[in-house]
Amino acid sequence: MRQQALCYFDNNATTQVAPEVVDAMIPFLREHWGNPSSAYAFGHDIAKKVEMARTEVASLINADPREIIFTSCGTESNNSAIHSALVTHPEKRHVLMTMVEHSANIKFGDFLQKHGYQVSFLPVESDGGLDLHLLEKSIRPDTAIVSVMWANNETGVLFPIEEIAALCRSKGVLFHTDAVQVPGKLKLDVKELGIDFLSLSAHKLHAPKGIGLLYVKRRTKYHPYIIGGGQERGRRGGTENVPYIIAFGRAAGLAMDTLKDENTRVRALRDKLENGILSRIEGTSRNGAKEPRLPNTTNIAFDGVEAEGILLMLDQAFPAQWDPKLGIHVT
Ligand SMILES: Cc1ncc(COP(=O)(O)O)c(C=O)c1O
Repeated sequence: MRQQALCYFDNNATTQVAPEVVDAMIPFLREHWGNPSSAYAFGHDIAKKVEMARTEVASLINADPREIIFTSCGTESNNSAIHSALVTHPEKRHVLMTMVEHSANIKFGDFLQKHGYQVSFLPVESDGGLDLHLLEKSIRPDTAIVSVMWANNETGVLFPIEEIAALCRSKGVLFHTDAVQVPGKLKLDVKELGIDFLSLSAHKLHAPKGIGLLYVKRRTKYHPYIIGGGQERGRRGGTENVPYIIAFGRAAGLAMDTLKDENTRVRALRDKLENGILSRIEGTSRNGAKEPRLPNTTNIAFDGVEAEGILLMLDQAFPAQWDPKLGIHVT
């Protein structure tokens, strides 16, 4: 069988690191390897570059750079936001989230329950939507934080974050959104939304795995999750992952440029693929609402076949391997 270039369709799982991003970070592995906390120029210069990257990622979400805390990943950002709310309000022992959150939230919720907190996991409707009346009814006087993802990583279904943020504000409860799947696909504007916390993860936007951020609105109280050195203005201990922070900054710039392409070319390709499968293969249906949805995501059910089974068989039929001569993956 003739080999052909691998088409990678799993960009919600992770993305290929963009060449521009690799180029931006390499000097910080080879030459500029100092510690940004060092009290001499070799460190100061690096600290300045970290601040430039902070400004770039802040622009992506229309935040003030001082509202950005670099973390190790989206999971840490989600855990940190909830942890902070519970430490800030020790008298409030209830957390509200949905049943379809990423395990970065669900598993943390399970952990909190085992340690004496109350966590409500709200169900979603058959099309993946969230009943805002149910959400409103579920907010209690002892709710410390509401944490609801912006875009679902499996179906791409979007929750009405602006309305949820307004609802939480009116109830005087902190609001966190896991926006890990959103950058580069939808406009992000934390000022317009008025949310307290927002999580991002760089490996979803063509930067390496292992770097994320937590946005914390100015004047929202924050208690660090990782306690140690005074890095990140005392809000996250641990020497900064400088090369990856630089990479995140560069990727944030690129993500702003891809917004239009994702919403035109990629959306049209996604629709063509989805409509092709739904119209030609019997027993197929879309999981989740058609709109509002991320422009790059489709989730299709095949009657009588388990997703795992399809995945395993396709993987066996088209094994991917790296071709060093062509410099690409082939199958
Ligand atoms: C919606 C969502 N939240 C959180 C995460 C976790 O991010 P990370 O892999 O950076 O910990 C992911 C990653 O798959 C995700 O899709």
